[in-house]
Amino acid sequence: MTIDKSQITPEVLENTLKKEIWPEVKVVAPPKTGKVRNVYDLGEQLIIVSSDDLSTHDVVHKRQVYAKGDNLDGISSKYFGKTENIIPNHFRENLAPNTWLVDKADQILVEMVFRKYITGSGWRGYSKANGPEQGAEFCGVNLRPGYRKNEMLDEVIFTPTAKGQVKDFDIPEFEGMDPEVDDPKLTVDIIRKNYQAFGLKTPGDLIYVVDASFRLYNTIHSDLESKGKLLADTKWEFGYLPDGKIILIDECVTPDSSRIWDKDKYALNEEKNEFTIVQGDKQHFRDYVERLELHTPEKKAELAAHHMDDDVLRDGVVLYCNIREAITGTPTEITTEPRKEVILAALADRGFLK
Ligand SMILES: Nc1ncnc2c1ncn2[C@@H]1O[C@H](COP(=O)(O)OP(=O)(O)O)[C@@H](O)[C@H]1O
Ligand SMILES: [Mg+2]
Repeated sequence: MTIDKSQITPEVLENTLKKEIWPEVKVVAPPKTGKVRNVYDLGEQLIIVSSDDLSTHDVVHKRQVYAKGDNLDGISSKYFGKTENIIPNHFRENLAPNTWLVDKADQILVEMVFRKYITGSGWRGYSKANGPEQGAEFCGVNLRPGYRKNEMLDEVIFTPTAKGQVKDFDIPEFEGMDPEVDDPKLTVDIIRKNYQAFGLKTPGDLIYVVDASFRLYNTIHSDLESKGKLLADTKWEFGYLPDGKIILIDECVTPDSSRIWDKDKYALNEEKNEFTIVQGDKQHFRDYVERLELHTPEKKAELAAHHMDDDVLRDGVVLYCNIREAITGTPTEITTEPRKEVILAALADRGFLK
């Protein structure tokens, strides 16, 4: 890998892009802000700016991670290019670092989650339901008994959740559920019965995107495997263009939307009866927060105010740059040119500012 820690000088480390709305962008509706991106509505197209903000444990950290947004975008755009033949996508142009021009879509309100390995919340649910002895159901998928933590599933599975919260959907299946529950679990049946509530035009459109997603998964998993990585799970979003065509939107297999593991370190630990994994990406930051014991809900304010250690931040920057380079073959630009100024100058040149 070409990026090394010594390149990340204190000036580079501070040269990050904060998630702030820029009022100078010409828009047809008020800009929207997500967890890490800002979305500017141009009418038929959007400008999406991916900030360098980092969130772990439901908290956005005070310090940003140099080039994080640009690294995520680099990975997504590579996979958008590679999978256009499977399903078209929203990506039109990289306008500047962290900044895309995309086609605006009417969102399908389902987070299309696909998993090839049983880990995280999937593992917690399975083991709690006594899955290892009896098997268990997960988002309408029956899992056989006998899986160990982090083990590869017999096949890729679809475990959707709603894009939004329980209270955003007026469907019988959510009645009586806790409106504060963040990630309402779905099944294919629930989506089909309530397809309009989830922004689908026909129930058949669900089959179309799920089928395309299985093909996306296989194509990208093979590509990652050839680069020494495993795609443990990922999430896609889809939407409709005004002419009714369905496209892939948002991001594509980034370290924020996926779990990506090192292939050569993935191995059965017989003593623990589970598979050992080494995660690229955010786990580095999660581990740091947990070492400081700032990961609990009552410590959220403290975590938000915490000034992350320079060295931990620098290691994280190197990690994201290296995963981007491993996947795309293109190294990240290491620069002290102020990010916001570079982006606004590019947008001004193209006539996107007031
Ligand atoms: N082409 C598109 N058309 C409409 N909405 C989009 C498109 N691409 C992405 N989005 C939406 O823009 C937002 C991106 O911001 P992000 O910070 O990722 O949000 P979130 O907190 O929902 O993950 C998301 O809500 C995503 O669904
Ligand atoms: Mg998102």
